[in-house]
Amino acid sequence: MSQAHLTVDRAFTVADVPHRLFGSFVEHMGRCVYTGIFEPGHPQADQRGFRQDVMKLVKELGPTVVRYPGGNFVSGYLWEDGVGPVEDRPVRIDGAWHSIETNAFGLHEFVEWAREAEVEVMEAVNLGTRGVEEARALVEYANHPGGTYWSDLRRKNGAATGTIEEPFDIRLWCLGNELDGPWQIGHKTADEYGRLAQETAKAMRLVDPDLELVAVGSSNRQMPTFGSWEHTVLSHTYAEVDYISMHAYYQEHDGDAASFLAEAVDMDAFIDGVVSTIDAVKAAGKHTKQVDISFDEWNVWYQRGLETEDQPHQVAKGWQKHPRLIEDSYNVTDAVVVGTLMHSLLRHGDRVRIANQAQLVNVIAPILSEEGGPAWRQSIFWPFARIAAMARGQILRLAVDADQVSTQKFGDVDVVDAAATWDEGTGRLSLFVANRGMEESNDLTLDLHGLEATGISSAEVLAIPEERDRKAANVLDDQDAVGLRPLREVGLEDGALRVTLPPMSWAVVQLEVKSA
Ligand code: AHR
Repeated sequence: MSQAHLTVDRAFTVADVPHRLFGSFVEHMGRCVYTGIFEPGHPQADQRGFRQDVMKLVKELGPTVVRYPGGNFVSGYLWEDGVGPVEDRPVRIDGAWHSIETNAFGLHEFVEWAREAEVEVMEAVNLGTRGVEEARALVEYANHPGGTYWSDLRRKNGAATGTIEEPFDIRLWCLGNELDGPWQIGHKTADEYGRLAQETAKAMRLVDPDLELVAVGSSNRQMPTFGSWEHTVLSHTYAEVDYISMHAYYQEHDGDAASFLAEAVDMDAFIDGVVSTIDAVKAAGKHTKQVDISFDEWNVWYQRGLETEDQPHQVAKGWQKHPRLIEDSYNVTDAVVVGTLMHSLLRHGDRVRIANQAQLVNVIAPILSEEGGPAWRQSIFWPFARIAAMARGQILRLAVDADQVSTQKFGDVDVVDAAATWDEGTGRLSLFVANRGMEESNDLTLDLHGLEATGISSAEVLAIPEERDRKAANVLDDQDAVGLRPLREVGLEDGALRVTLPPMSWAVVQLEVKSA
């Protein structure tokens, strides 16, 4: 049995839990929109074509903000194609995913879907093939009350399609997507992008001054331009933007589960690196405002089919409507890793103020759906849903004194990975913790300073199901193989929490606490 000793002190907090840290992402890619959230004619779809079985799972998952419409897709997208009477909308080629885009679903439908799902809209503009003019037109279309060309068109289109006519009031905007990547339509150098983003931001704010804007950061930490890209882009845009984006996808390589389980170490270092670059540009430019991070694509993704550096993603063969693309099936190990990635985001909640798991349905997603068939939860659904529901109040700094596990990629790392929040209003402290040890259970103690535990309100664990292995996953014929179960080996001893975590598991324990 390995050992871990954690300590929290109510005086040592990181930040308030950012409401937007539990975001998700809907891209016009594969079956995320079509046969995912939207499938007219499905037995569970309403009159607008919104699948209510999927909607129910989305509400249970609990995302707070959803990025739309891409992703790589947005860099070739003409937003005007997706508004107005559906029969008049053009069918187009989507170059990013080699698919046919019917445009049956567009901005009005997404805003209406988002309102029903009770999520904030995070809208991306196309800075691949387009620029300042189309972006400012889109802001006018979305947010201006009326009496101008674009805002009146919104009203007219809303009336014609029976969707929303009033301003959409979209506050959060991404200034393009992954424009550092050679695979991106309209790929740019950092200087080209930085200038374009600066001018686009300025023009968008002249239409609506209260926007929050996200500049594009590196597509991943391995990009040859990582670091210099952020520095150059922010040197152009610091005064105009509020956030810079980060993207990261993780996978198990060659059966090296130990390194995969420790990937939060990489995420921690990646975030620390971007924070340093932001602060260097801030200091050099004598800025007083703080730019923060929007980690607007993260997840586990088995990037099979890495054909070339220029086109690292799987695309469809032929030209199909909503082909099956990157529909990864997630197992127990993946769920534990997703839990740890969310811990990393929480630990950096003072600077990472927005984060979006990519994506929401079917495409590397916590929810799967079949065309004409059922929808169900993947293993990774569970850590997201619990953290989104239970991380409240203040993020607490954790002191960790734990046994080590050795990994090929990161050397020795703590056997446990954890995050904690404390909500003074409800008197609840939530501990989220993973045991990265693959063979041994972990005997964990949590000491509280300045707080007194008076009871345990809930304790659940996701672990390898009995008589299965770590590759167990929720599939069409076995939709509930992996889930949460009550954590039985948990108790309070002399004011400390004692828990036994099974090997390779993720757990959440919620305590009732009062000030000591
Ligand atoms: O989420 C899938 C893709 O990954 C997105 O379209 C792109 O931005 C990223 O490379």
